[in-house]
Amino acid sequence: RVTALIAGAIGKDGYRHYMEKELHEHPVVIGQTLQRLIDPATRRVVLPDLPFDMASVPRAVITACGSAFYAGMIGRYWLESVARIPVDIDVASEMRYRDPPLTPGGMGLLISQSGETADTLAALRGMRAHRQHIVSVLNVEQSTMARESDVVLGTAAGPEISVASTKAFTAQLSVLACLAIAAGRQRGVVSPDQEQALVASLLDLPSRAGEVFDQADAIRRMAAVIAGARDVLYLGRGSSFPVALEGALKLKEVSYIHAEAYAAGEMKHGPISLIDQTVPIVATVPSGRLFEKTLSNLQEARARGGRLLVFTDTQGAERLRGIAEIVVAIPTVDEFTAPVLQTIPVQMLAYEVALLKGTDVDQPRNLAKSVTVE
Ligand code: G6P
Repeated sequence: RVTALIAGAIGKDGYRHYMEKELHEHPVVIGQTLQRLIDPATRRVVLPDLPFDMASVPRAVITACGSAFYAGMIGRYWLESVARIPVDIDVASEMRYRDPPLTPGGMGLLISQSGETADTLAALRGMRAHRQHIVSVLNVEQSTMARESDVVLGTAAGPEISVASTKAFTAQLSVLACLAIAAGRQRGVVSPDQEQALVASLLDLPSRAGEVFDQADAIRRMAAVIAGARDVLYLGRGSSFPVALEGALKLKEVSYIHAEAYAAGEMKHGPISLIDQTVPIVATVPSGRLFEKTLSNLQEARARGGRLLVFTDTQGAERLRGIAEIVVAIPTVDEFTAPVLQTIPVQMLAYEVALLKGTDVDQPRNLAKSVTVE
């Protein structure tokens, strides 16, 4: 009902669906969220006051549901590699019953668009019972989770009406990236020069994100292939793996086509047996450290007759054109920010497939925007 009321008040601004409108809001939302956390004068990350010292946090435990969980997976890569914080992560429906041993004084990191998801809230309460500092990344800042957190890091995504989350995801990533940078600085593992470089790449994101929409035609060609499939396999390595998971989830949600995401290196342990002409493979392969590794996984898939649809960047495109049927090259950014940008085209792809399938894009069957019961 609340969603319907907000939907009544917020128009589609000429877009066909809220999902389409919200996809186009990625650049603005990333910019607005970063603006809250980066001082334009010093170009340093400035977090709200934390009631604990990030330098001595023994561990972070991340939990969330759905797309927010995949944002959390990317956050884990950043907290580990940038801030050198040990991280545990699980979906909230598991975390709330796992009862992991938690050292008091750890950071419990919750991620939620609505701030009302039942499992995430239960996991928050469990972490508090284990004397964790509760940091929540929330879009609705007047929510139950906000009231029960020690610190709220807000995502400035604005109301998200489409049931399938889109813009909240890149806003969550913007916050998590800033959190990792600030934590790394406080732990003495991110130097001032490194902070400047990381911040510069974040501040570049809104305009680069705007350029992703130039690829709409190529994404529509991919959608035409996927719309005829019954099953789709998504692949990615490193921080592109959660991007693949998000792509597969979005496709399932809005087009009702079965999709599975795998870490590219795991393909040989099972899903390679699925590969044939009828199961398109959507791979996210930005240039960087893991490019060659993923490329060789794709060559294996190609050799078995797989149809490859690849998201990469301008730097990686040339190498992939020889083996992939369709290549979508978005702007090249550094490895740190690549997953933020690479998420946008996989979400756009799901939207385009849903259009071709004629589904109810904004209100997919059986799904709720906010799942407030277990
Ligand atoms: C539902 C929505 C998803 C969302 C998930 C978590 O399943 O359909 O789009 O990612 O809940 O919601 P939250 O509000 O906690 O981010």
